[in-house]
Amino acid sequence: MKKTALNAANEAGKIILRYYSKNVNAISKKNTYDLVTKADIDSEKKIISTIKNKYPGHSILTEESGEEITNSEYCWVIDPLDGTNNFYHKFPMFCVSIALYKKGKPLIGVVFDPIKDELFCAEKNKGASLNNKKIKVSTVNKLNKSLLALGFYYERGLLMRKSLGQMKKFFYENVHGIRRTGSAALDLCYTACGRFDGYWELKLNPWDYAAGSLILMEAGGRITDVQGKKYNLMIGNVAASNGKIHKYMLEILTQ
Ligand code: IPD
Ligand code: CA
Ligand code: CA
Repeated sequence: MKKTALNAANEAGKIILRYYSKNVNAISKKNTYDLVTKADIDSEKKIISTIKNKYPGHSILTEESGEEITNSEYCWVIDPLDGTNNFYHKFPMFCVSIALYKKGKPLIGVVFDPIKDELFCAEKNKGASLNNKKIKVSTVNKLNKSLLALGFYYERGLLMRKSLGQMKKFFYENVHGIRRTGSAALDLCYTACGRFDGYWELKLNPWDYAAGSLILMEAGGRITDVQGKKYNLMIGNVAASNGKIHKYMLEILTQ
């Protein structure tokens, strides 16, 4: 099953890169800033066909075509292109995210950044890797030594004001910086390999974090919701970290 996930991510990455180099982007818009491009659609088709070819009975949950629920205990959770806004604007920060869940628990997570040719991968209880090398979270244990990442959901109302307020509070704690990469899956993977020490976002869909969350946990990190509640695929908002600064992040996020 891991092989299938890797194969699907690799094929999808090739499709995305092809569109990227040909400058083909938005074909339709969900709203003014939530875009869907031909790359999202074709990447998703390829991933679904690769999975169905091997595992026709498994359930599938994807961003663009919704869900296909069977009575299988396995469910693939797919974001065919995480970071569509970046892709559209030619900002080279996006990825393919594929996860396999069994009875609601993560088994396999694969996140592939085709621009940097970086493949993040994890299997339950087998650790996490970046291009086949084991990765671990950072050892930073203070907010004033940390680099954080923040994501914003597409809505520009209450949630955005809340996120901006939280950002201000983290800056008052003298964090080294706060980045907004535009790809939730990469935010989680970057936390997994120590490029970030923590990341939070107030509204996400399961496909944004299904794979990245396992990669982070297998790299020794921690992920909860922003109230500190235990991770599951439906939490819908995330506080993710190297574990050591988690309680300090939650102190701010629960205010
Ligand atoms: C988005 C990205 C972004 C996050 C948004 C997501 P998409 O996914 O992960 O970083 O802030 O909440 O919706 O639309 O590019 O697949
Ligand atoms: Ca996404
Ligand atoms: Ca997407």
